[in-house]
Amino acid sequence: MHSLIIFASGRGSNAQAIIDYFSTDNDVEVALIVSNKKDAGVLQIAADNNIPSLIIGRDEFNSIDLIEKLKAYKPSLIVLAGFLWKVPEGFVKAFAGKIINIHPALLPSYGGKGMYGHHVHEAVIAAKEKESGITIHYVDEVYDNGRIIVQARCTVKYVDTPDTLAQSIHKLEHFFFPRTIEYLLKAN
Ligand code: GRF
Repeated sequence: MHSLIIFASGRGSNAQAIIDYFSTDNDVEVALIVSNKKDAGVLQIAADNNIPSLIIGRDEFNSIDLIEKLKAYKPSLIVLAGFLWKVPEGFVKAFAGKIINIHPALLPSYGGKGMYGHHVHEAVIAAKEKESGITIHYVDEVYDNGRIIVQARCTVKYVDTPDTLAQSIHKLEHFFFPRTIEYLLKAN
C-alpha cells in the first residue's frame, strides 16, 4: 500500500483530482491532507472524502513533532498541490526525494518567490509568451528549483486572460499530476 500526504493552501482542485484518480486503486491511499489555512477549500474536500486533515502554523512546520507525526503515515510521497509556504530545510531532509510540487508554468521560467497563482499567468501574458504549461518537480531547499520530473505545455492564445489561461493550466494539472504520481509510485 502506498500512502500519500497532500499539502494544499487553496481550493484543492488538484487534491480532488488526485483523490478521484486513486479512488479505485487499492494500492494507493491519500492518508492525510495538511493545510496552513483554516478556511482552505481543500479541508472541505478532505472532510467530504473522509480523509483526516491537519492545520499547521509556521512553528509547527519547522518542528520535529510534525516530521514525527507525518512519518507515522509512512508516506511514499508528500505532494504539494498549491501549497504556498516554502518548505523548511529540516523537513526537506527528513523526506529527501519524497516531496514533489506542481508549478503552473514552464520552470525555470516564471518561478520563485511571489510567482504563484494568477501572478504567474499575468506575467506569462504580459510577456506575450506563445506557450505556457505545468512543471512537476522534486522539492529541495530553494523555491521551484528541484529536479524536473514532467512538463506539459499548452498554447497561450492571443485572446487568453489570466483566468482563461489558468483554466487551461488546471486541465493539464488535473490530467498529469495524478498520473505522474502513479508513475513515481509504481514504475520503480
Ligand atoms: C495550481 O495551479 C498549482 O499549480 C499551484 O497552485 C494551484 C492550486 O490550485 N501550485 P488548486 O488549489 O489545486 O485548485
